[in-house]
Amino acid sequence: MTLSPTPIHEAVREHYAERARKADSCCGSACGCSNDLYDSSLISDLPVDIADFTLGCGDPITLAELRPGETVLDLGSGGGLDCFLASRLVGPTGRVIGVDMTPEMLAKANANAQRLNVSNVEFRKGYLEALPVDDASVDVVISNCVINLSPDKPQVFREIFRVLKPGGRVAVSDIVTNGALPEPVQKSMEAWGACVAGALEMSEYVGGLRAAGFAGVRIQPKGNTDQAPASLPIGVPFSAIVTASKPLFKLIAPAHHSRP
Ligand SMILES: C[S@@+](CC[C@H](N)C(=O)[O-])C[C@H]1O[C@@H](n2cnc3c(N)ncnc32)[C@H](O)[C@@H]1O
Repeated sequence: MTLSPTPIHEAVREHYAERARKADSCCGSACGCSNDLYDSSLISDLPVDIADFTLGCGDPITLAELRPGETVLDLGSGGGLDCFLASRLVGPTGRVIGVDMTPEMLAKANANAQRLNVSNVEFRKGYLEALPVDDASVDVVISNCVINLSPDKPQVFREIFRVLKPGGRVAVSDIVTNGALPEPVQKSMEAWGACVAGALEMSEYVGGLRAAGFAGVRIQPKGNTDQAPASLPIGVPFSAIVTASKPLFKLIAPAHHSRP
């Protein structure tokens, strides 16, 4: 499927092209802006510039509980850190695909892959809304602080559903809100690029995934599993973890037979 990029895509692409050029690992105030997102045991043996180049807001790798042999798709792979971490966990019999729309990010990810000499990771140019990935070909979809940047989240959720195998799972870190953001923030293109303006309300996120066909959808603030949604500040973006799975079977409504 081809996609005509929207002005939001263009603004976001320019924002991240600049980050890739400057090797700047801070996407904005809502993101983690450092490599303390991961347990040090995961990243300590990587070259420091690769380990430090994260624009994420969480650790989808630990969340995903990856197993040897699995095929993993990373949405908005940036400099490739999550793909490299996933590649070690799925091992030589598994594979990892990173998709990103920003050529500067893809160039950085490919250069990093060469330095690390990884053979089971591949980066593809494309949009979350039209993934360059076959139907039912992926075991796990991960993503780190990217879905909030999409101008068409329902389409992203449909695409994730399409590429996952039946029984496949979603493990995502993202920025969300509890209640609407202030209107000037919603309209700011800068705030969109900084992972703020495009943040969905938690209930919309859950509803969007369910509407796409997902089961077992869960969303909770990062690192604070006990916090009741009602106690979260209203209209303030925060980092959350999202999990869901694609049902093994399609549910078909029973046919109604009328008695003769
Ligand atoms: C906040 S950065 C996160 C990068 C990476 N996941 C990480 O944790 O460092 C967002 C990335 O997603 C990409 N991106 C944003 N919107 C996209 C879209 N609609 N389709 C494809 N890539 C997108 C950007 O180019 C950028 O590399």
